[in-house]
Amino acid sequence: MNTSTFRTAVVHTPNGPGSIEIISVPVVRPGPGQVRVGIAGAPVNPVDLGVADGFFHTIGLIDQPEYTGLGWEFAGTVLDAGPGVDLEIGTRVAGMVGGFDRDYGTYAEQVVVPVAGLAVVPDGLDLITASTVPVNGLAAVQMLDLLGDAPADSHRLLVTGAAGAVGGYLLALAPERGWEVTGLARPEDEEFVRSLGVRFASHAEPGWDAVADAASLQERALEVVRDGGRFVGVKPNAVPATERGISVSAVETRPDGARLSDLLVRAASGGLPARVHSVVPLDSASDAHRAVAAGGVRGRYVLAP
Ligand SMILES: NC(=O)c1ccc[n+]([C@@H]2O[C@H](COP(=O)([O-])OP(=O)(O)OC[C@H]3O[C@@H](n4cnc5c(N)ncnc54)[C@H](OP(=O)(O)O)[C@@H]3O)[C@@H](O)[C@H]2O)c1
Repeated sequence: MNTSTFRTAVVHTPNGPGSIEIISVPVVRPGPGQVRVGIAGAPVNPVDLGVADGFFHTIGLIDQPEYTGLGWEFAGTVLDAGPGVDLEIGTRVAGMVGGFDRDYGTYAEQVVVPVAGLAVVPDGLDLITASTVPVNGLAAVQMLDLLGDAPADSHRLLVTGAAGAVGGYLLALAPERGWEVTGLARPEDEEFVRSLGVRFASHAEPGWDAVADAASLQERALEVVRDGGRFVGVKPNAVPATERGISVSAVETRPDGARLSDLLVRAASGGLPARVHSVVPLDSASDAHRAVAAGGVRGRYVLAP
């Protein structure tokens, strides 16, 4: 293995899964407050499909001169620590890389990131499972921040996409904020939804006090919020227009090491449904994208370099 370069997945001209290329680039030393992490696993998320097929280029969020890195989250071990970082080499960590416009992501053998956004992976949680928590766990937590605590007299929350990553985490976390949760999912997902101790629906009637729209149904989900209720979505660049006095917002997930640490502890104890579909080599990123694009996948494809 060449220790002066590392392998990473990028798209030069985005055109779907077939446009993903693995390139070798120079290793970078971490700067102050940064660490270099050797990646054990990097999940394939819906956002990565949008980067590879050019959607985010089309709407102006990506304007890269040459190529764009793929992958938003990871778990691995610390290889190298920059000045001011108090983490031992070999420490198991997980984290996320935010922002669309970038040369490199987590579909890679290694990544350099600020230590502030990282969390130590607790004993009892393997790195592959841990890698599936950061982006979607933090998305769920930050959506609940936007929704706030449930008022005592109007606490019925519908979570769309309840069998997905964000949706599953919302089902586990929303009851702690006082919400009485119903998960909207496909009929075949009923067992998973109910296993988290919440109600299940395969069809939503209007009248919900709040909707957390993890399926990104947008206006269709807003329609079933009662007058004066709350809606939180997952598309910060396409927030539905407010109507009928409903408060409308959308999450833009940001790194948060302290809250990620809490989420990883929950995942280790079984309190958060972190699910892995399968582990595939980094070289199979294109195939994994095709499989995810076909829909119906439960749990994450995780790329292992
Ligand atoms: N803004 C942010 O910071 C942020 C952060 C994280 C995620 N996100 C976004 O949040 C969304 C969810 O992410 P995820 O990782 O949870 O995705 P996911 O794991 O693919 O889950 C989405 C779930 O929604 C279901 N679904 C989609 N359309 C449906 C419909 N019409 N009726 C019923 N179920 C439907 C899917 O079922 P099928 O597979 O059967 O279709 C799947 O179970 C994505 O759009 C993602 O890009 C945004």
